[in-house]
Amino acid sequence: MTSERKATLIIEGHEPQEFPVLTPVHGNECVDFRNLAAKTGMFSYDSGYMSTASCRSAITYIDGDKGELLYRGYPIEQLAEQCNFLDVAYLLKHGELPNTQQKAEFENIIKTHTMIHEQMARFYQGFRRDAHPMAVMVGVVGALSAFYHEAEDFTDPRQRNINFNRIVAKLPTIVALAYKYSMGEPFMYPRNNLSYTANFLHMMFGTPCEEYVPNPVVVKALDTIFILHADHEQNASTSTVRLAGSSGANPYACISAGIGCLWGPAHGGANEACLKMLEEIGDISRVPEYIRRAKDKDDPFKLMGFGHRVYKNFDPRAKLMRKICAEVLHELGLVNDRLFELALELERIALEDDYFVEKKLYPNVDFYSGIVQKAIGIPTSMFTCIFALARTVGWMVQWEEMISDPEYKIGRPRQLYVGAPRRDVPSLDKR
Ligand code: SDX
Repeated sequence: MTSERKATLIIEGHEPQEFPVLTPVHGNECVDFRNLAAKTGMFSYDSGYMSTASCRSAITYIDGDKGELLYRGYPIEQLAEQCNFLDVAYLLKHGELPNTQQKAEFENIIKTHTMIHEQMARFYQGFRRDAHPMAVMVGVVGALSAFYHEAEDFTDPRQRNINFNRIVAKLPTIVALAYKYSMGEPFMYPRNNLSYTANFLHMMFGTPCEEYVPNPVVVKALDTIFILHADHEQNASTSTVRLAGSSGANPYACISAGIGCLWGPAHGGANEACLKMLEEIGDISRVPEYIRRAKDKDDPFKLMGFGHRVYKNFDPRAKLMRKICAEVLHELGLVNDRLFELALELERIALEDDYFVEKKLYPNVDFYSGIVQKAIGIPTSMFTCIFALARTVGWMVQWEEMISDPEYKIGRPRQLYVGAPRRDVPSLDKR
């Protein structure tokens, strides 16, 4: 990993300093600046981490220029086509796709751990019915650590496996209960005769009054949506989970912190914001007005679902999401769905506009996901919960990679201080 190549830093008034260049398997080389302060007394300044690699990772690789996304080396397009979400969860966790026996064992472990503690179900009663489901998720997922004290002992790989399986199994139940509670409908217990994603749909839309039969096209579409959202390198919420975990906090507290970060409209909250934006635009005739607003520096409006810190080409997930969108709308007889038509036109106009072309702003994973979820019957407020359900796999695996890294330390960035110079406290009569 460390090449023989060196980077030489020449700062006026300082001796030139050399720093090792780290060579990746794919992607950008890195200058190892860990000794910068020790060697120069200076910090590197990189607000927003535009040019900073925060860790070594073997989990996910993104090539923003090529529009490429690999999970453990496998292209997202192939995984979406040939695997289900639990196969991908196994891959991200263990580094290889499961064979037939491993697949059956893993699916059975997950299937038989989907119920939550009965006292956890009572937690929901403490929230207002109209509470945002992400607020409920932050609370309930964080509270898992109150029920599983052994999660504190994550130095034991066996315990880490149990924590991973437990949270992957219980997240769909936790999310579905948040929806049922908001609707005032009875909670639905998981069904072991259903697949992971079919079971989630059963817990979301089933009632005790009749047998719920999940639509296989919808099950496959939602399962693929979970795959597309499972992990994404060192995005804001994953970095939050890593930073929280670096203090030794238990995994459930760290995942709860990740959920809080994902909630923001610039991140996972963009799918909810995007659907609201499409509904506000309302009609294709108003698209030019909103494109103009998105380009106006004095207007805070941004085209939600467009742009990405890393992808400066198409987000490969957006292409797959658009295909899923068309399939689900066709299956549900919504081919002329107004919002989908509007989204397609908005995408077409934006991608022909010089502003978006020059700034390399393309649709991201959130642009179509809201339309699909709305067509399935998932309310807008639940979109980011669906994102969190899937991303919990990536968060847990990134957290485990971090605590298993022999180099890991508590994350503690420094700053460029621009506040008041040192001064003495004046007496009250002199203030
Ligand atoms: C996710 O990091 C990840 O991997 C995240 C994610 C994941 O899987 O974890 O992929 C999930 O969060 C996807 C992104 C969802 N967010 C949105 O769709 C919200 C709208 N997008 C923007 O807020 C923005 O594009 C970001 C936040 C996604 C990226 O922001 P950056 O990298 O900080 O880029 P920027 O804001 O500096 O934009 C560069 C330029 C700016 O113009 P200038 O200041 O250079 O003149 O492009 C403009 C921006 O004003 N711009 C937009 C725009 N996005 C960027 N202008 C209009 N509409 C937009 N959507």
